Amino acid sequence: MKTTNQFTKPITTVINSKNNLEIGGCDLVDLAKNYGTPLYVIDEKSLRTICQEYKNAFREYPKTNFMYASKALCTSALSKIISDEGFGFDVVSGGEIYTLKNAGINMKNVLFNGSNKTFEELEMAVQYDIGRISVDNFYELELLNDLTIKYSKNVNILLRITPGIECHTHEYIQTGHSDSKFGFDLTQIDDAVNFIKNNCKKLILKGLHAHIGSQIFETQVYYDEVKILINELTNIKNKYGISVDEINIGGGLGVKYTEDDNPPSIFEISNTIISSIKDCCKELNTDYPMIYLEPGRSIISTAGVTLYTVGSQKQVPNGRKYIAVDGGMADNPRPSMYQAKYHVEVANNVNRTNSEVVTVAGRYCESGDILVKDVDLPMLEKNDILCFFNTGAYNYSMSSNYNRTAKPAMVLANSGKTDIIIKRETFDDIIRNDVIPNRLR
Ligand SMILES: Cc1ncc(COP(=O)(O)O)c(C=O)c1O
Repeated sequence: MKTTNQFTKPITTVINSKNNLEIGGCDLVDLAKNYGTPLYVIDEKSLRTICQEYKNAFREYPKTNFMYASKALCTSALSKIISDEGFGFDVVSGGEIYTLKNAGINMKNVLFNGSNKTFEELEMAVQYDIGRISVDNFYELELLNDLTIKYSKNVNILLRITPGIECHTHEYIQTGHSDSKFGFDLTQIDDAVNFIKNNCKKLILKGLHAHIGSQIFETQVYYDEVKILINELTNIKNKYGISVDEINIGGGLGVKYTEDDNPPSIFEISNTIISSIKDCCKELNTDYPMIYLEPGRSIISTAGVTLYTVGSQKQVPNGRKYIAVDGGMADNPRPSMYQAKYHVEVANNVNRTNSEVVTVAGRYCESGDILVKDVDLPMLEKNDILCFFNTGAYNYSMSSNYNRTAKPAMVLANSGKTDIIIKRETFDDIIRNDVIPNRLR
């Protein structure tokens, strides 16, 4: 059975009687008209469905905790939905913690990651009694130890390790150690555990954490990762007599940006993870661990689309035809940052046949601001609406105000109704933090 991450479009996508694209029962042309473009649209049904698919896929293994990776897209309203679906949260910054706290999320269900958390962020996490902190390095162990003494609090931690598995989306290698800025190398685990045992009375080591990459299409990597985590966990138990029983497998499951992408289903991933746990625990004669999963992209990517309005067009003599839209690298930096590919369709009069190969260019002052190269589209006219699919993850969360443009609004679509969940920025928002010193007035 296919799961939501294996579709290029939100699961509610249809063509309506006006010949326009509709998502969540909402006509995308109406949304563009009512809210302006660029516009991020999130389909609530796709979001809730994928959360449920994760829960179904791991039903057989009740010791599973789902921690949505907020870095993919963190907003107050979406946090409410994701929490409502029974997920906790992986956060990597004070800003993400603040958003969740403000949305009323129980901080016990939050796990704090990151390779260089600041003292202030760690202090915030300790003050808020965050559920778990994944400690990345020795420096952080020391900072956190000082904070447990200052606040006289126990803090539950995991150690982030680099398991020596490197994923490059379609292939992976296993190495003795990874050249990664994240986490403890496998050879440093003993030193870290000794440091905790001997110096950190209030740091409670609960287990180990790893994350092997993003937009992963392989299942075997998860099998190998789990094996390494359980092996290391068992070593710690046996060697130090500490009752550690948690492994955090990270995120990474891929999504279908284009027809060329073939991510596994969530069921394939769960089968792999659960069989690795069973095999490994049998071999080592050890108990099944509590597991944490931190999916980000696979939760929110497919639920999101971005709408743009077509503006100018340019035919290069004997070259490409460029279609310019009213957004680009500031609302979606992924194509210019790492040549990410997207599926795009016209959202109005969709019965026009694709008749030319065009390149969709952003409006920003960078030649590299190209949203998608050489795609088949119908002959477009000014004010046509283009819909880019799979923009829920790492779009708004990576957006900027480049060229002093205001960030787009985001709406949540469900059963023919929409709610604004991020307001469109205004020019006042753009200058809000500007200060003109008196001597320049
Ligand atoms: C530690 C950690 N967990 C989870 C994730 C989420 O990954 P994805 O969005 O690919 O599921 C990331 C992404 O970089 C990460 O670094």
